[in-house]
Amino acid sequence: MQVKEAITSRRHIKQFKSDEVTDAQLLSWLDTARFAPNHRMAEPWEVLVIGSKTRALLHHKANFGDAPVVLAFLYKGSENEVDKFENLVATACFVQNFCLAAFADGVGTRWTSIATKPDTKEILQLPENYEVLTILGVGYPAEVPPAKERTPMVSKIKHMS
Ligand SMILES: Cc1cc2nc3c(=O)[nH]c(=O)nc-3n(C[C@H](O)[C@H](O)[C@H](O)COP(=O)(O)O)c2cc1C
Repeated sequence: MQVKEAITSRRHIKQFKSDEVTDAQLLSWLDTARFAPNHRMAEPWEVLVIGSKTRALLHHKANFGDAPVVLAFLYKGSENEVDKFENLVATACFVQNFCLAAFADGVGTRWTSIATKPDTKEILQLPENYEVLTILGVGYPAEVPPAKERTPMVSKIKHMS
């Protein structure tokens, strides 16, 4: 699959098949994702593979669409606001790379906003100085929905002098 096709055909997957996703597959997509841009080669990301006990504690209303794998993506915090912001941005690039690499192999991802819930940090027992960017369900899609309409970029571009 070409890059442009992966970008436009990747979808947020609501429900997954139970088919196994192997550790080797996950590692290969994560190893692809690490080529994300990151300032000063900070490589500010870490990944938690969420086991069944922790998954039960997270109380996601849809149980991550019954995904066979749940991953938490962390980024390194900092007392320096600029560094923290850049670490978050680099990790968002890393996550998108991961989603595209997986999707190119037919495996989908489900974003959640659980990262923003107050008890998530505690449940995940984060390494010191790390924050949660997102927690994703990962698996073979039961269905790939059609793309939602996007606003043409021509209406969002302004030319400056
Ligand atoms: C930061 C972020 C948080 C999101 N949180 C949720 C969420 O809590 N629940 C959900 O169903 N989708 C969530 N999504 C996925 C969006 O709903 C989805 O990307 C959007 O509807 C566009 O669909 P598509 O990804 O299939 O193009 C989130 C996406 C992002 C980037």
